[in-house]
Amino acid sequence: NSIKPWGGRFSEATDAFVERFTASVTFDQRLYHHDINGSIAHATMLAEVGVLTDPERDQIISGLEAIRAEIVAGKFQWSVQLEDVHMNIEAALTQRIGITGKKLHTGRSRNDQVATDIRLYLRDEIDAVAQELTRLQRGLVGLAKRHADTIMPGFTHLQTAQPVTFGHHLLAWNEMLQRDYGRLIDCRKRVNQSPLGAAALAGTTYPINRARTAELLGFDAPTANSLDSVSDRDFAIEFGAFSALLMTHLSRASEELVLWTSAQFNFINLPDRFCTGSSIMPQKKNPDVPELVRGKTGRVNGHLVSLLTLMKSQPLAYNKDNQEDKEPLFDTIDTVKDCLRAFADMVPAIEPRQAEMLEAAKRGFSTATDLADYLVRKGVAFRDAHEIVGKSVAYGIAHDKDLSEMSLTELQQFSASIEADVFTVLTLEGSVAARDHVGGTAPAQVRAACARALKLLDQR
Ligand code: ARG
Repeated sequence: NSIKPWGGRFSEATDAFVERFTASVTFDQRLYHHDINGSIAHATMLAEVGVLTDPERDQIISGLEAIRAEIVAGKFQWSVQLEDVHMNIEAALTQRIGITGKKLHTGRSRNDQVATDIRLYLRDEIDAVAQELTRLQRGLVGLAKRHADTIMPGFTHLQTAQPVTFGHHLLAWNEMLQRDYGRLIDCRKRVNQSPLGAAALAGTTYPINRARTAELLGFDAPTANSLDSVSDRDFAIEFGAFSALLMTHLSRASEELVLWTSAQFNFINLPDRFCTGSSIMPQKKNPDVPELVRGKTGRVNGHLVSLLTLMKSQPLAYNKDNQEDKEPLFDTIDTVKDCLRAFADMVPAIEPRQAEMLEAAKRGFSTATDLADYLVRKGVAFRDAHEIVGKSVAYGIAHDKDLSEMSLTELQQFSASIEADVFTVLTLEGSVAARDHVGGTAPAQVRAACARALKLLDQR
């Protein structure tokens, strides 16, 4: 059992199954880079406070850098017997530099080490996610700007409601993503705290300088309580919650893209490079990318529930349960990054079919509310106006005519208050242009909203 750094008090070898069951190295090895950075900061601080000599520190740092190079080159031999990324690297260090390697773990535990590693790793990934989210939003706002005047039907209950502009619809997506960005940045603040120095749970008797290791690793500050430091995974849950909500937004957008590419809607074309075909039906072009993003939302939502459930009954401080935080967190990160990349690539390439969108808006009597509002302006009570327009719509359905296609005489059958000026409000262009206030769909408002959105993106 001598290979185990903790083997001293054990009298028989670990059961082979237990060894595999308790090991995490197959999935936590991706933390190696941050594990090494954490160890270098720890060794640097230990030398500053006199626990290590300068030559010992230098030996440790060059040994760790050599190990890093070996891992990067794919030449490092990971061992399940050595359980996790931390013990694999520590054992390799001792093998490489001898007894000095055994001094690295002074004043530290794997409990504060792993908490430090995950935070460092997640911080980098948050920055990558933030960048990709910004790229997506830029593409989205750019597309919205180009289509500030493109008219489409707006829906409630998936039934044609009132005309909106395509740009306005895209900006609704952008609002969701803008809130997601805010949540991500807020989460980063609580990720960026240093648990290093909490040791196993109670702190350590060595004269460590926690502020110094925090500073060396780019953390904002050391965490306040050693018990909390080694057992807190709130930051991972917060990232999981951010991710679940982001994916929920991407999934809603995906659902709309899937609908819009269908022959029944025919609102947009997705370029072939984002689609795949069918092995049996030669005519098929399927919107796989948005479909998969929609599908992957399920696993990200599931990971959030896994993490919450993982934590809900743990007594203080560290428990082995915590090892189960990694796979859900890592898969969340991988999935979110892939889905953002897919969307950021795809969104600017969306080709709206403007004539089809316009036709669809006409077909659904989308200016009925405008006619009612017109009657109210002519002195009719709103409920009476509603009734009058309802009758006009029924007539339109029976005669296959949009309101704007009826003659004045036809319209006047339903109300004497209708006059020749009615036609300016019955056009789709007139309808959208009339909703001219902050947050409204008027093209002028959409253009102003795009400018505001781009300014926010520039300020990041
Ligand atoms: N592999 C462990 C984890 O991921 C590292 C910490 C282990 N600490 C311990 N006392 N067993 O959580």
